[in-house]
Amino acid sequence: MPDQTNRSRPLCFSDGYISAVLFENVENLEVSGIVVNLSPETIWIEGVVNAPIQRWRSTTITAKKILKADRIAVLKVERAENLGGVMHRGWSWFGDIFAGFPRETPLYVSSIDTIGTVEEDPRAFTREVSTRSAKQTFELKLKLWWSPAQTDAFIHNEHPFLETHTQIHGFGRMQKFRERDAATVYEDVIMSPGFSHEAFCLVTGPNQWTYPWHRYYADTDAVWLAVELHP
Ligand SMILES: [Fe+2]
Repeated sequence: MPDQTNRSRPLCFSDGYISAVLFENVENLEVSGIVVNLSPETIWIEGVVNAPIQRWRSTTITAKKILKADRIAVLKVERAENLGGVMHRGWSWFGDIFAGFPRETPLYVSSIDTIGTVEEDPRAFTREVSTRSAKQTFELKLKLWWSPAQTDAFIHNEHPFLETHTQIHGFGRMQKFRERDAATVYEDVIMSPGFSHEAFCLVTGPNQWTYPWHRYYADTDAVWLAVELHP
């Protein structure tokens, strides 16, 4: 039933510790938690003054109505005790997926939920243009990361997709570097629960996104959501 309003399903990584629910075709839906706008349009949240949430951004709300949205995810830490036992709840150590990842780095990733497709202008995603004029179909994928405090989640600059991240639990930072060397850091985007950083890349050709050297760095034990748009 494609027209059904407020249809929902749990995301594949939702469990008793972190609830994560996808809602589509949203109208007047009351939720509590971190609301991530997974649509290429502004969504609206009811309040003393109604609030627009821009594409691919997020906020934390308590018993407030989403007035209208194509697609959102709502995440909430339900249980913090033993939250970090993700490796015993089906999550993978990243080195088991990515060959050559440093054995001593405690970075863990959940299963990946492929949500469906979205029509986005990549230059709107990167904020190089303000309106969508060259729409392209992307497959939208979500997954969660966990690492303990003071974890270097690996400096990299290659992605065959567009990405952003939303902080779910704890505190960290997304950092940019001049070279593949932590000493060359030139920007820190501080990540606190409910916050999504803006795109780090620019569009430099068809399906070509140029990223600076970057990494996530966990200041405390942290859970963050990756939002990926795959061409
Ligand atoms: Fe990245």
